[in-house]
Amino acid sequence: MKKNVLVTGGASFIGSHLVDKLVSLEASVTIADDLSTGKMDNLKQSQDKIKFIKTDLEYNSKAEARNIFKDNEVVFHLAADHGGRGYITTHPADVCSSFAVDHHVLEACSDTNVGKVIFSSSACVYPTDLQKDVGSDYKLKESDSDTSNLGSYLSADIEYGWAKLMSEVQMNSFQKQFGLKGCPVRFVTAYGPRENETHAIIALIYKAVEKMDPYEIWGNGQQERDFTYVEDIVDGTILCAEKISDMTPVNLGTGRRYKMVDVAKMIFKILNWEPKNLKFDESKPTGAVSRSLDNARAKKLLGWEPKYDLEQGLQKTIEWYLKTHKIEGSINEKALLENNPN
Ligand SMILES: NC(=O)c1ccc[n+]([C@@H]2O[C@H](COP(=O)([O-])OP(=O)(O)OC[C@H]3O[C@@H](n4cnc5c(N)ncnc54)[C@H](O)[C@@H]3O)[C@@H](O)[C@H]2O)c1
Repeated sequence: MKKNVLVTGGASFIGSHLVDKLVSLEASVTIADDLSTGKMDNLKQSQDKIKFIKTDLEYNSKAEARNIFKDNEVVFHLAADHGGRGYITTHPADVCSSFAVDHHVLEACSDTNVGKVIFSSSACVYPTDLQKDVGSDYKLKESDSDTSNLGSYLSADIEYGWAKLMSEVQMNSFQKQFGLKGCPVRFVTAYGPRENETHAIIALIYKAVEKMDPYEIWGNGQQERDFTYVEDIVDGTILCAEKISDMTPVNLGTGRRYKMVDVAKMIFKILNWEPKNLKFDESKPTGAVSRSLDNARAKKLLGWEPKYDLEQGLQKTIEWYLKTHKIEGSINEKALLENNPN
């Protein structure tokens, strides 16, 4: 990937890992981020080899946006007002800023003849009625949300999912009208170093590291997710940029699913600690009951396979958390709900 690339939201959790990988592949990387939740600290590994532009993609002018986007062969668009389930449920209006951000980004890509735009979409673009049974073995297929057929049934998971779905619709319309190339990549429950505590895995690690007892799990603990390690997400995203131009959406997920309560137990085992009591808080937001992605298309079109299983990914994530987290002996509830708690 020896190309000029722009990563919007490049100071984020996933964005910064993508930047590190692109730098290692000798890409010339520019980052556009407003640092609303992204951190320069996430970019430490690559800071001498990148160009950083602090800009708000919701409100910057057309001229400013054109200046940032011009001369890039690939744009990886990750910037979003985003967080884990607690955040997206309690900030529905904030999350809708993506309607504006994504439109501005697609317009800037189109105006400046960017070669391709690769968009961080989500498993939240799928209908939740396909995800309502505990123990289901149904894997969501790209055709379950077919944005190329606007006459088909489309439904999504709360405002965040609808915003991603509408951005996929916008991508298709920019392709139809202006010939824009690229694709949406549907990530599912990414986790790894640099993620914040609004996301389930980091929240579960946080509570265990702080030895919370009774140890609180949101919901009844039976909700199931397809946890995908950040390096696998990054590899698949780069492969999309290399191989897909025609806006075909691609799922990136492992196809396996785990119950939250079992993930908590895996974390206790790695930390060699366990609470005397578990407490299930059913008043907290939990999202879809059972979610996992079919990854046959990613295998076929990209030759992609996830390299990390959950055990390996948790080991690496916990190692990072123990190195960077300052133990306080209590839980800051705000950190579980706000993507920028300070
Ligand atoms: N983390 C996941 O599990 C997951 C799953 C599916 C999809 N995604 C998507 O992947 C992308 C990256 O996820 P993440 O978890 O790394 O996100 P994040 O919340 O860590 O980062 C979002 C980034 O966008 C920047 N940003 C927000 N609004 C901006 C604006 N108006 N202008 C410029 N920059 C702005 C923030 O500063 C931050 O760096 C997001 O689009 C997210 O919706 C993430």
